[in-house]
Amino acid sequence: MADEFDWVYTDVVKDHFINPRNVLKPGEEFAADGEGMVGNMKCGDQMMMKIKVDRAKNIITDIRWKTYGCASAIASTSALSEMVKGLTLDKAFLISPKDVNKQLGGLPDHKIHCSVLGDKALRAAINDYYKKNGQDNKIQKEEARTICQCMNVTDHEIEDAVLEGARTYVELQEKTKLGTVCGQCKDEAIELMEGYIKKHFTKF
Ligand code: FES
Repeated sequence: MADEFDWVYTDVVKDHFINPRNVLKPGEEFAADGEGMVGNMKCGDQMMMKIKVDRAKNIITDIRWKTYGCASAIASTSALSEMVKGLTLDKAFLISPKDVNKQLGGLPDHKIHCSVLGDKALRAAINDYYKKNGQDNKIQKEEARTICQCMNVTDHEIEDAVLEGARTYVELQEKTKLGTVCGQCKDEAIELMEGYIKKHFTKF
């Protein structure tokens, strides 16, 4: 087991996994100004994120999180939690899984999809803060756009398929079933797939 573990993860990833920073401890009181919850407990990948905010400066002063995700989800959220402390909400909102991956020295490609949970939970917590503080105009919704009308497949599902390993149109179809009726969505789906591959998998 030790050999396999050593081979897959960098020392930074292992450190964050073994000593995760800013985890919400059982019974810990943490009066959050914003809170986000994403993922699905049925898949075992739920993530909860809480932030404290300096209201005068719009800066994240403290953060706690909790997940039932895997080693990559734990390590990437731990790194993310250190990166966002002291940042303005605007800057924190823009941190991407790729930024976190860089901080970790790189996750294996097949584990990158595990690292997006913390990032999504953080944006949900920031939006929650805006909502609770009468700043609805700053809330940025991540609404899905339907790309394949026949099979009702969205851009978010295409991105998830890429994160889970789809690299060709056939692989994308296998994962999402898009393009299997009239085929009109093919060009747009390929363009999006290539964009997501570039976004998540080009080396930093
Ligand atoms: S729009 Fe995708 S198969 Fe028809």
